[in-house]
Amino acid sequence: MDWGMKNRLSRIIRPETGRTVMLAVDHGYFLGPTSGLEDPAKTIEPLVKYADCLMLTRGVLRSSVDTSVDVPIMLRVSGGTSVLGNLADEGTTVSIRDAIRMNVSGVAMSIFVGSELERKSLLGLADLINEAQEYGIPVLAVTAVGKDMNRDARYLSLACRIAAELGAHVVKTYYCEDFEKVVKTCPVPVVIAGGKKIPEREAVELAYNAVSRGAAGVDMGRNIFQSEHPVAMIKTVREIVHKDLDPVKAWDLFNTLINEKATSAK
Ligand code: R5P
Repeated sequence: MDWGMKNRLSRIIRPETGRTVMLAVDHGYFLGPTSGLEDPAKTIEPLVKYADCLMLTRGVLRSSVDTSVDVPIMLRVSGGTSVLGNLADEGTTVSIRDAIRMNVSGVAMSIFVGSELERKSLLGLADLINEAQEYGIPVLAVTAVGKDMNRDARYLSLACRIAAELGAHVVKTYYCEDFEKVVKTCPVPVVIAGGKKIPEREAVELAYNAVSRGAAGVDMGRNIFQSEHPVAMIKTVREIVHKDLDPVKAWDLFNTLINEKATSAK
């Protein structure tokens, strides 16, 4: 692996712990102005200082993130479909030249294993990796799950392993029962998406379960920015990911942070 590639990867996954807290705010690329991201700048600003990496699209990066921000960027470069259409029909939306121009640390693309467009999406990932490799840019493969697909260890292991075999440097997937199997059979770091908003206490447990079973961290969106207390949530998730804070202590911390905020506002 060349120096540039290693350097970018070490910006995404913190070398001190081998883990990362990526803040995912790329949802608008197929969901439009989803809840909590109606005004991306307003959502991102208070949270970004607690993120190891920011995952978003070119449009939101340009319009809603200050150029002086000190955070590595994971740029989503796939899209072209919406929640109203066939999501698996995504293609590449950003050239590597433009990604480099934006000084990104990595590029991300979804794959749709098991869909009728599986071949197209996997070869699209391979093309992106080939191109990104030329410039030392790591690729994050996102294992997308269709409505009628099982999010079980068998399916997610299949999808993660295929992404790694094609050359993805990091894979993002979902937490599931027997998650250890997914991690053990994937030769590159695996991070988990948070998925739909769930109660904060469950999200805390999800993050803990994932890292304690081998995840290299989280790429979490809705369970942070749709929380009533997004800053407390991302700070708590950081402690879980980087310090293995157990769910009981993490829940205490979350509540302490909320109370501190309420007291200082009085
Ligand atoms: C979905 O494909 C997007 O890439 C999100 O970045 C991803 O799902 C993570 O966000 P969340 O934690 O909200 O699921």
